[in-house]
Amino acid sequence: MHVTPIDPAHGKSLYEQVADRVQGLIAEGTLQPGDRLPSVRKLHEQLSVSISTVLEAYRVLEDRGLIQARPQSGYYVRHTALIEPEEPESSAPDTVDNSLAYQVMQAMRDPKVVQLGAAVPHTDLLPLATLNRLIGHVLRYKSAEAHADSVPPGSEALRHEVARRLMDAGCSVTPDQIVITNGAFEAVYLSLRAVTRPGDTVAIESPTYFDFFEAFELLHLNALELPANPQDGVSLTHLEQALQAQQITACLLVPNFSNPLGSCMSDAKKKQLAAMLARYEVPLIEDDVFGDLHFKGARPKAVKAFDRQDNILYCSSVSKTVSPGLRIGWAVARRYQSQVERFKWVINQTTAMTPQLALAAFLVNGGYDRHLRHLRRAYETQMTRMRRAIADYFPAETKVTRPRGGQVLWLQMPPEFNAVDLYQASLQRGISIAPGAIFSKTGSYRNCFRLNCSMPWSEQLEEAIKTLGYLCKKQLAEKMLREIEG
Ligand SMILES: Cc1ncc(COP(=O)(O)O)c(C=O)c1O
Repeated sequence: MHVTPIDPAHGKSLYEQVADRVQGLIAEGTLQPGDRLPSVRKLHEQLSVSISTVLEAYRVLEDRGLIQARPQSGYYVRHTALIEPEEPESSAPDTVDNSLAYQVMQAMRDPKVVQLGAAVPHTDLLPLATLNRLIGHVLRYKSAEAHADSVPPGSEALRHEVARRLMDAGCSVTPDQIVITNGAFEAVYLSLRAVTRPGDTVAIESPTYFDFFEAFELLHLNALELPANPQDGVSLTHLEQALQAQQITACLLVPNFSNPLGSCMSDAKKKQLAAMLARYEVPLIEDDVFGDLHFKGARPKAVKAFDRQDNILYCSSVSKTVSPGLRIGWAVARRYQSQVERFKWVINQTTAMTPQLALAAFLVNGGYDRHLRHLRRAYETQMTRMRRAIADYFPAETKVTRPRGGQVLWLQMPPEFNAVDLYQASLQRGISIAPGAIFSKTGSYRNCFRLNCSMPWSEQLEEAIKTLGYLCKKQLAEKMLREIEG
């Protein structure tokens, strides 16, 4: 193995540099599945780093699902070394069945199904007892407020807490700039309604959250799908080309732990994005539902933190962190505030007050930060276990993302693979997945699918991953056989 020395002045820690270096060798094929890695001592000498640095690097590579230790023998490249897809390769375009996304969501209702399809938090991980107590408290002591008629923008107490929390995302917002909505989806819908007219085109990253297409359909909007990669999201080069060609009226992105790729934009890219859109006077609708679910370090900033021209409508909710059933979200619309409030009023008048008041109390002193720490740790552990199980049971050609937050993994199989067929076969065995085709209208990603990692690890889950791996292998083997015979 040829090695260039590790640079101590590099921004990353030494062990991460060593891990990245070895990962590069696996990705380019210098180290093949089943190959033995250089011994810890040898790498320590070759790279002039300490033994503990090499050991830490090998531990990181194990976590990434790339290598495995064999007792008394050393470290080996896994049979299925989990390489991240670059820009997700798509298979040949196919027609997309509009009802498929809705079917995937319907499978959520079936308690017998192992829920790997919908990106919802598992109720075991939610602070249900505290929330129930707070709801009881609201109904007992704030009954008049809870039952009174109300109008947008929603509970003052809740907007105050949301504004306070937004400081963690780098945003300086006052409560009167916030509209409480029925979840983030409504916030996005109202924001789209405020900044577009029927027939307009909105730029989105591809693949993207499938319900955005439903909003576009209801509002008679066109989507311009821009390439994105699992590391830092949408291509700004492609976005600028669309802006130059005056193709788009607005942009709708999930910059922190996007769904389904799990990408997270760097601060530098967020700053560049905010400046670029301001230059062309094209508003951004930023959906930040996964922003609080980072695994390491500080919470990633919102693009809104770099908004100098009041050009960004920020949308989020507690559906991914506290409770999807409370149906509480918000939009920070500022210059579009009055339109968003008015549209909200026309559509459903207001959001139910009891959950708003209970959530406000939870954010004030219900232990939100402690809960988030627990949730983030659980998601990171579950995602690592899921990636390991994928490495153990899936075909060698499988590629899978390695997000630094959020709750979903995106898997890419060879181009001939059909994930809709996998969806149907796995549902028959009581497992739901989200097939890639629903995340785009271009007919791409037929060979991809998304897995939800919010379920606490269990034997049943391990069995489900094993079954999915078997079904993937079976489908690929049958396709190969047909090709040989035909
Ligand atoms: C990116 C994104 N935005 C919005 C939503 C919907 O959020 P809510 O349930 O708060 O409406 C989801 C749900 O999966 C999502 O992934």
